[in-house]
Amino acid sequence: MNTSKLRENVFYKEETVSTNNDAMDAEQAAEGSIFLAERQTGGKGSKGRVWQSETGDGIWMSILLFPKLSPEDIPKITLTAGLAVCKAIRKKGFAAEIKWPNDVVISGKKVCGILAEKREKKVAVGIGINVNTEKFDGELKQRATSLYMESGKIFEREELLNSVADEFEELYKILCEKGFSHLRDTYKAMCATVGKKIKVILPIDAYEAEATDITAEGELVILHDGKEERLCSGEVSVRGIYGYV
Ligand code: BTN
Repeated sequence: MNTSKLRENVFYKEETVSTNNDAMDAEQAAEGSIFLAERQTGGKGSKGRVWQSETGDGIWMSILLFPKLSPEDIPKITLTAGLAVCKAIRKKGFAAEIKWPNDVVISGKKVCGILAEKREKKVAVGIGINVNTEKFDGELKQRATSLYMESGKIFEREELLNSVADEFEELYKILCEKGFSHLRDTYKAMCATVGKKIKVILPIDAYEAEATDITAEGELVILHDGKEERLCSGEVSVRGIYGYV
């Protein structure tokens, strides 16, 4: 980022449809602006899913970027955001890990999801962190968790948000100036998917494989029927065959 720093411009709303929409629709906002809301009435998850965020117990934020990266490098921004959140949550004492490409998990359950959306030159990096959520119902019960559910403690959301912003700013600078190859080792060390048996889910197919590595481009290396393959984020979903991760 060569304009304003993260957190110099913060736009807060009690309620909004989606902070990603707010970031995209802001006409004059500088790069690095952060859009926050206490509650989202139309929180967007990946693959067209709904992101549960009607309650004021999480961090629902979007960072506005004008990246000068080539189109194929844009997905690396979400990997970088996942890494930033994972580092910030680890600093709070949790054994957080990344489920490739960009979910942050604790004890195999999702605590943070990231959705980056691109419109013309703008990218909104939407980050949702379940902070003080007391419980999840239905199918989310098996897959989702919060910092409160993992520790019994209520967390100061502003402090965690600042920490996420600081981590992201540092890592995004490395991504833009040096490339993902300079983040790869740290990412791999925090990635729970590597070494696991996984299910690769494609739009009309699914198969089992073993995740073996992360490339300098952020792809997941897998062994499938004895052959090595590389998966690009955005194109596939992976699940652990023994659980979510
Ligand atoms: C996922 O499904 O894993 C992605 C979830 C992304 C949620 C965040 S909350 C802030 C931002 N605004 C949205 O509508 N979605 C993202």
